[in-house]
Amino acid sequence: MKNPHHILITGASSGIGEALALFYAQKDVTLFLCAQNTERLGKVTQQCREKGAEVFAEKVDVTDAAAMENWISRCDKIAELDLVIANAGVSAGPGKTGESSEVTRRIFAVNVGGVLNTVLPALEKMQPRRTGQIALLSSLAGYRGLPSAPAYSGSKNAVRAWGEALRGHLKPQGIEVNVICPGFVVSRITAKNKFPMPFLMPASAAAATIAKGLRKNKGRITFPPLLAFSAWLMSCLPAGIAEFVLTKLPNKGSD
Ligand SMILES: NC(=O)c1ccc[n+]([C@@H]2O[C@H](COP(=O)([O-])OP(=O)(O)OC[C@H]3O[C@@H](n4cnc5c(N)ncnc54)[C@H](OP(=O)(O)O)[C@@H]3O)[C@@H](O)[C@H]2O)c1
Repeated sequence: MKNPHHILITGASSGIGEALALFYAQKDVTLFLCAQNTERLGKVTQQCREKGAEVFAEKVDVTDAAAMENWISRCDKIAELDLVIANAGVSAGPGKTGESSEVTRRIFAVNVGGVLNTVLPALEKMQPRRTGQIALLSSLAGYRGLPSAPAYSGSKNAVRAWGEALRGHLKPQGIEVNVICPGFVVSRITAKNKFPMPFLMPASAAAATIAKGLRKNKGRITFPPLLAFSAWLMSCLPAGIAEFVLTKLPNKGSD
């Protein structure tokens, strides 16, 4: 979509979501932002207002389906949503002690359940209007299951597959769907990583790349190019070879 005016972003209190909110914040734009940390969300809201945007920010947990449906419905009543970005996500790898079932369930609840809880109510509003754009935050980690982060890579793989399938499915209905697969971006998620992160980029640069891809309605917005190529290559290699290479990667640290 060329110039979205009514934009909803989940997980807008830090990192990529914050950078996207600031990128889109300007006069004539209404932003609907959610996160859980009200202090951080308040600061982002203030900055977006200073750039001229009208901002409605609310503490909502994306794993709460009823709360999300209610919030999205109220937002859409204020201003019909043009662009919805399902960005909220969490990460925690196995670290030294392994990935607990609690951590695994939490990651899937936020990264997959939270995306469903954002996209499904948004679609209910957009489909009758036959217009709108939905963007889903996957990751280059979602190209292939990573032994260093099983739940995270599994959750992002699910989001990527669902988003790509929805794109073709919803095109005849006039809805644009885009899957975003970043590499390493400076955020609270990557701040936990204790290993070298090739091509680590600022969140503001990631937001500009994402917005450009969304403007062009690209199906898959992947960056940076070299890391995207490596992720794609890993997904093409025979399973045994990919496993040999990937088990050498350092584990993400636990929360
Ligand atoms: N950074 C990277 O290198 C990278 C790469 C690929 C993909 N991604 C994806 O990009 C997205 C944004 O992550 P980020 O890297 O910007 O990390 P981040 O700085 O930790 O931001 C995550 C955002 O999600 C929100 N959030 C987490 N759980 C939530 C919940 N249950 N309900 C509502 N909001 C929730 C957080 O807000 P509160 O803490 O206030 O709840 C925060 O605003 C994630 O989906 C992530 O997987 C990141």
